[in-house]
Amino acid sequence: MSLAAFDLNAIGPEFIADPHPVLDALRKERPLHRNPDGSILLTRYEDCRAVYQSRAMLSDKTEAFTAKFGECPLKEHHTTSLVFNDPPYHTTVRKLLAEAFTPRKLAEFEPLIARIVARLLDRLEEMGEADIVEDFAKVLPTEIISVMLGVPEAMRLRLRGYSLSILGALDPVVSAERLEAGNRAVEEFSALLSEIIAHRRRNPGQGGEGEVLEALIFGEHDGRRLTEKELIQNCIFLLNAGHETTTSLVANAVGTLLEAPGAHRALREDPGLIDTAVEEFLRLESPLQIGNRTAGENVELPSGTLPKGAYVHLSVAGANRDPRVFDAPHEVNLGRSPNRHLAFVTGIHVCLGATLSRIEGRIAIGGLVTRFPALAPNGPGDRLPLARFRGWSRLPVRLS
Ligand code: HEM
Repeated sequence: MSLAAFDLNAIGPEFIADPHPVLDALRKERPLHRNPDGSILLTRYEDCRAVYQSRAMLSDKTEAFTAKFGECPLKEHHTTSLVFNDPPYHTTVRKLLAEAFTPRKLAEFEPLIARIVARLLDRLEEMGEADIVEDFAKVLPTEIISVMLGVPEAMRLRLRGYSLSILGALDPVVSAERLEAGNRAVEEFSALLSEIIAHRRRNPGQGGEGEVLEALIFGEHDGRRLTEKELIQNCIFLLNAGHETTTSLVANAVGTLLEAPGAHRALREDPGLIDTAVEEFLRLESPLQIGNRTAGENVELPSGTLPKGAYVHLSVAGANRDPRVFDAPHEVNLGRSPNRHLAFVTGIHVCLGATLSRIEGRIAIGGLVTRFPALAPNGPGDRLPLARFRGWSRLPVRLS
């Protein structure tokens, strides 16, 4: 197939397994690539950065989601999440959610994260071999975000399934089955959260260590609180945003280290590399690979003009391996500095959980590498079958 005919809306397993040969070619030859549906795919760092920073590039997806989902719970969820909205709604909800991520709150989380990681590492040591996704990577963020939102322990196991179903429905190509699973997940998740919120409303001041739900229920910005629908849908969004991506950060880091023994050795020998290493894992295998915006007016980019109304796909994966910005972009360099990757994007929607996930990544990946110097693959793993989210569904390892 010629490069000009490439269609992001019709990608298959080959692209999902390794999108970089195509992204490299597009970045070089077709920086503003038009898909057959007229949408534009950007792969250059400076173009993506300019789009994320432009106030003329809009996140509201009501039209796109109405066309994709019709009237259903998935549409209600995604169109109420702050990430798919513009100011002024976005500004209000972001200010209210930011209450959950103040430096004081994050300082509370560090010892909690260290305790959870230490417990998980003890368990891995007893197991001797494990699936790094199931037994490690997904447990930590699920626990943290559940603590933040007061989700009782017995219900936490269901969260990742919900999250994958809801986020999976955002892929460019979605089957009817996946749509149905996404809708079911929004309904069940909403019912669960409504109970938790009602309980906290009746029992204010009784949240445990690290819980921020009350700040979301009672917090005000410009004399306005979140409505029940906004509260529920944005809590679902926080749960999704907060655990799937961080699970992938940890699993992708382990996958990268298993494939790059030199980097693995370097981190074992110098644990002080962990901060720059986390940035490099985020750059190389960004958990969120594709973003979207609509041009509210004609927008000039370094590589050309986006016409008003254009629907744009931003390849974070492509931008983060742009050789104009990153030397040897396909290689792992755990000491890379500067490393101005776009894994958390930039602009008004920059990830609200970036600091939290960096702390989680540092403690989890650093702890694993230090505790298990013999960490090695134990048979092939399985990638998540998604183009937008890069991660593993299974990654077997031997620990000793
Ligand atoms: C490695 C982990 C993570 C990655 C790679 C990541 C990535 C991203 C990206 C790319 C966006 C911007 C999407 C867009 O505008 O197109 C975003 C937004 C967001 N993220 Fe994260 N995220 C991570 C972890 C978290 C965590 C742990 C939380 C919270 C517990 C979180 C909460 C949010 C929120 C609330 C937004 C929406 C911000 C807005 O629209 O203003 N994220 N994240």
